[in-house]
Amino acid sequence: MNILAWIRSAFFQAAPDDTDASAFASAVKPISDPKFGDYQANGCMAVAKKRGANPREVAAEVVRKVDLSPWANEPEIAGPGFINIRLRDDRLAEYLVELSADDRLGIEPAERPKTVVIDYSSPNVAKPMHVGHVRSTVIGECLARIYETLGHHVIRDNHLGDWGAQFGMILWGWKNERDERAFDADPVRELARLYKLAQARIKPGETLSDRYKKVFEFEKEGKFAEAEALFAKLSADSKATRDEVDRVIAESRAIAEACRAETAKLHAGDPENRALWERFMPYCLGALQTIYDRLSVRFDVQLGESFYDSMLAETVEKLEKVGIARESEGAKVVFTRENGAPMIVQKSDGAFTYATTDLATLKYRYETWRPDLVLYVVDHRQSDHFKQLFAVAAAAGYGETDPRHVAFGTILGADKKPYKTRDGDVVGLESLLDEAVARARAVVDRNSPELSEEERGKVAEVVGLGAIKYADLSQNRLSDYVFDWDKMLAMNGNTGAYLQYAYARIQSIFRKGEIDVASLRRRVPAVALGSASERALAVAIVRLPETLELAANDLKPNVLTDYLFDLANRFSTFYDDCPVLKAEPENRDSRLALCDLTARILKLGLRVLGIETRDRM
Ligand code: ARG
Repeated sequence: MNILAWIRSAFFQAAPDDTDASAFASAVKPISDPKFGDYQANGCMAVAKKRGANPREVAAEVVRKVDLSPWANEPEIAGPGFINIRLRDDRLAEYLVELSADDRLGIEPAERPKTVVIDYSSPNVAKPMHVGHVRSTVIGECLARIYETLGHHVIRDNHLGDWGAQFGMILWGWKNERDERAFDADPVRELARLYKLAQARIKPGETLSDRYKKVFEFEKEGKFAEAEALFAKLSADSKATRDEVDRVIAESRAIAEACRAETAKLHAGDPENRALWERFMPYCLGALQTIYDRLSVRFDVQLGESFYDSMLAETVEKLEKVGIARESEGAKVVFTRENGAPMIVQKSDGAFTYATTDLATLKYRYETWRPDLVLYVVDHRQSDHFKQLFAVAAAAGYGETDPRHVAFGTILGADKKPYKTRDGDVVGLESLLDEAVARARAVVDRNSPELSEEERGKVAEVVGLGAIKYADLSQNRLSDYVFDWDKMLAMNGNTGAYLQYAYARIQSIFRKGEIDVASLRRRVPAVALGSASERALAVAIVRLPETLELAANDLKPNVLTDYLFDLANRFSTFYDDCPVLKAEPENRDSRLALCDLTARILKLGLRVLGIETRDRM
């Protein structure tokens, strides 16, 4: 049962006539300091302001009308017009008994299940995944699990970048620089080498030409003397001759052009390029799959950009037909009011764009699944793209879907720049996961020498992977965060390991007391909430359903991590205050039930975050 939702509906009914009842109801929030109560209604101040009345009087009017008696005590008015709500202890105690016997821990399946498509991970396949892909993969998977846990129908879609410019680079590399032996030995490694090689060959010319841009402009305008003078100044330190610079730039342009031509040929159905694509793809997908398996991520569909290729021409035609797209300097573009810049759907050379593919994708998703919600878990740098995309889709009448960009910030190194290794390469994801497990292993070896070699290995795997996931999910997703091994592997503080350890600690209580939890769940008579720390823990326990709902509505996994951290802290205070195994008989089962509920919520909550638990740590 979602108690917050229940209280909100009571406030919806009791809302003053001169206010928006649903806004008034949503101003009811859980509060974290039990001194003031468990929930607080903050809507009266706004009503009073509008009326020019005393907010405490408005609050009094609401308190007279609202009926919370099934769950809460008489509400109290506090401060400038807050209404504080405290759950009834007797009701809480009863409800905990119900929860003990409830496999779903109070989470009721949604009355009207939504169909939710989640577009996440979605890497460009030709290059190995790096640390930047962690966020989309981990956040997307977590949102999928949150929605599923609430009883919604989720479609996980890995929108692979398997058709873009990067594939042209690989094709060019293959045709000009391949090492077949290396390919036979390790195909993905060789493809990655070719990709990097093409990129490196294109780059020097690009950076050089940027530097010499003004020189070229002078030349174009016929100002040769100025061009020469500027050139001399720019080249003074590098001793480069004019010919050398020209040669580097020309070569890089030629390679860039050749790569583009390979991409164009692939799209046009050139048999050789298609055959190479078919040959390379299974290796690229295999390498990704290794990582997904390790992260326990699985997709329902992997409809990459290539899947939509055949729909692109038609997409543009339709946009033209309904008068949304038009020609501009040879290209086909859509102007939207939301964004000053036009969205190019077909370039003047006939090529379709990333945006065209996304439009076709949006339409396909709507027609195939009729989703209520489509989430795009993609880097914040693509915000403008999605704003435009959604505006164009709405203008084109692509159904009633609610598309949302779930943006996130960048993972930074200690230097506050995007996280890189010492040699300047962006850290590969696989080696990052290995390092996490190795570091966790060192911690486990130090802390738990009593565990067997095999057990320590297993603990290290779940703690290491859990640390990376938790560090990511516990951030407000919109902010950048600093990747810090020591912090994320700490046994204390807001970390995955702390929660995993809290779970294992409860299991060890059960082992020590030889408690059979199944029979405990059946026999709990009533839960006693005599001490403040028992009550505080109980209130956290009953908040699981509303927390998942809040996390789903705000699309924020950190709402869940904050909750679990708070739960673990309350448990720790309770455990310091109250003997459990040594408690008097009338309290023992009740306290064991609190332990059991806490452990079950930790396990479920961590699983929703994509993190496993171990009974011994
Ligand atoms: N492949 C893209 C990239 O790596 C992300 C794709 C996100 N999804 C989408 N429908 N545009 O930048």
